[in-house]
Amino acid sequence: MELLEEQRETWGTRGGFVLAAVGSAVGLGNLWGFPYKLYSYGGGAFLIPYIIAMFCIGVPMLILEFSLGHFTQRAAPNAFARCNKKLEFVGWWGVILGFVIITYYPTILAYCLSFMWYSIESIVRDTPLPWAGEGVEGVENAKNFFYDTYLGYHKDSALGGFQWHIFGMLLGAWVLMYFCIFRGVKLVGKIVWITVPLPFLVLVVLTVRGLTLPGSMEGLVYYLDPTWSELAKPTTWRFAFGQVFFSLSLAFGVMVTYASFLHRKSDINNNASIIALSDFATSFIGGLAIFATLGGMAYASQQAGSSIGVGDVVAKGPGLAFVAFPYALAQLPGAAWWSLIFFFMLITLGIDSAFSITESVLAGIVDKTGWKRGIVLPVMSLVGLGSGLVFVTQGGLNWLGTVDDFINGTWGIAFLGLLECVVLGWFYRVENLRQHANERSDWRLGKWWNFSIRVFIPVVLGTLFIWSLFDDFSNADGFIRTPEGEWILPNCVGLMIVGIAPVIAIFMSLMKNPNRQDSIVCEKTVSDKCTTQGRSASGVAFAVSVVSGVMIVWLAAAGMLEGLLLYAAFALGMSGLLVSNYVLNRYDHELVTPSKLARCAGIIATADVSACIAAVLIRLADSSAGAGVEEAAKSIPADKLGAVSYVILGVVTLVVFGGLGWCFYRAIAAFGSDEPVEEMK
Ligand code: PFF
Repeated sequence: MELLEEQRETWGTRGGFVLAAVGSAVGLGNLWGFPYKLYSYGGGAFLIPYIIAMFCIGVPMLILEFSLGHFTQRAAPNAFARCNKKLEFVGWWGVILGFVIITYYPTILAYCLSFMWYSIESIVRDTPLPWAGEGVEGVENAKNFFYDTYLGYHKDSALGGFQWHIFGMLLGAWVLMYFCIFRGVKLVGKIVWITVPLPFLVLVVLTVRGLTLPGSMEGLVYYLDPTWSELAKPTTWRFAFGQVFFSLSLAFGVMVTYASFLHRKSDINNNASIIALSDFATSFIGGLAIFATLGGMAYASQQAGSSIGVGDVVAKGPGLAFVAFPYALAQLPGAAWWSLIFFFMLITLGIDSAFSITESVLAGIVDKTGWKRGIVLPVMSLVGLGSGLVFVTQGGLNWLGTVDDFINGTWGIAFLGLLECVVLGWFYRVENLRQHANERSDWRLGKWWNFSIRVFIPVVLGTLFIWSLFDDFSNADGFIRTPEGEWILPNCVGLMIVGIAPVIAIFMSLMKNPNRQDSIVCEKTVSDKCTTQGRSASGVAFAVSVVSGVMIVWLAAAGMLEGLLLYAAFALGMSGLLVSNYVLNRYDHELVTPSKLARCAGIIATADVSACIAAVLIRLADSSAGAGVEEAAKSIPADKLGAVSYVILGVVTLVVFGGLGWCFYRAIAAFGSDEPVEEMK
């Protein structure tokens, strides 16, 4: 395998890279997104799709992105281009979706800066926090303060007036981000030694504090007790999967870019596992801290004679952090100090995630054009700031929520994740990347990883995509138009953004820069040489995949996507998928490349199999819809955790601590030894 021996700028230390990647992954999404999504979509039941997505998709894809970045030493667009020049647009697509995130993510940082400022004011002036209040009144105060006083919130999709006080803080957030990255990754590698451990410490303190409050159990019931019927809804799965992509900063090009700055000899597999486990642990512990504290607060209010419950303090949606937290914090002795620490923690959590996206966009442009970092960064920051102005209006929070849903939903990043695996799996030899990762890692990936990138992940994400597509368009209230024929503006804009991204991506990839020639290092020169056996197998795989596809389209058109014919189509699709996967494994090596038919067959078969599974899920979900209503009516929160919640707690603790313990053990065992390590079966 051809290897790049050049070495670009590096992180300095392994710790610097791991912390920077953890810093990118662990962000506002863990404390702002994960808990409210979990609470809104099934409590403990949400953890099932989340854990599946985190470990069956997140970790293998993180390894894929790390090896790609490390192997090619380029930011995402050029990294893909170095594997196969036609794939550059995939890298740009992620970078563009990342750019959309940096238009709104700093707005949330701006909220944090404002709340930190209010806390400082209250400390200096020795006055209560501006949202302070007890019991029911406290909840109302916190809601009114955030929505009315601070945001001047408009519920409808109109923009409303511009909020200058938020803009001031937004500017502050961009200046902070700018100074963190303007000197390159060396400085970032140092800053993260503060911005990563500090939030962990504060989080541990807040968790212990929350868990020792009387009444904390009631909060945990809300957090952990599963509502199983939620699992039958595609929204639960898509939010869980989208949250994993967002949380691990996957498919946005960030992890490819960060790994491109890694030293040539650095570990890949173990680092990816440590990062994913730390991210999951932070989300889970953050959820414990939040819900335990909310339980304690609700209990305190009940003692004071109010009938308030945990459900009344938890705002489902982007308001959670800025209504429930301030309310909870205002009840503590020394409230302003706690509030200051908390919002400072959110800023340190968010800042390294925010600058990681900026870095990925920046590195993408610099690698492609060869332009100077010192010019691209300020221009890009100004464009990011300018495009984010829409979120600094009275209706800004609605737009922020919608854009976030689209970017991090099946239409946005989950689809791109699917594409990333499909193109690398079928149009590039992922075995190269597996070998590259294994040559330098504390433990080795088995061949199952190739199967997972080429077959398993695309089928899972493909199924989710088709299931969600069906769900969106069969929604009785309409998706882009109401039944009365009115346009649903936010969804139209969301769709437009995710729709325009690939167009810009293709345009960027076609752009030529005469000043910069980037050699293609991974693409093989041989083409279409394959044995007769291989060619016949490819032909068979192609034929059965096409027949399966035609059957599915025909069954769907006739409204008969069920029964024996569906299973027959599934069996054909599955055979096409397995045979083409076999052909690639068997015939794709240094001197031979299999027929293009096998590659096309694989992709068609992936779509076939996904469609069949989605059809079955749609029917199952329909038939369990009635049962869900009953279950929802039954689940009245108690102040004792159910047995299942204890099992969930036990499993998560085992996964996190067992997993991290094992990773550190492997890192220590491999330290200083150049011996080949044994393969993971
Ligand atoms: N992972 C970050 C969080 O959970 O807040 C957000 C993020 C960072 C998303 C980088 C995407 C990205 F490229």
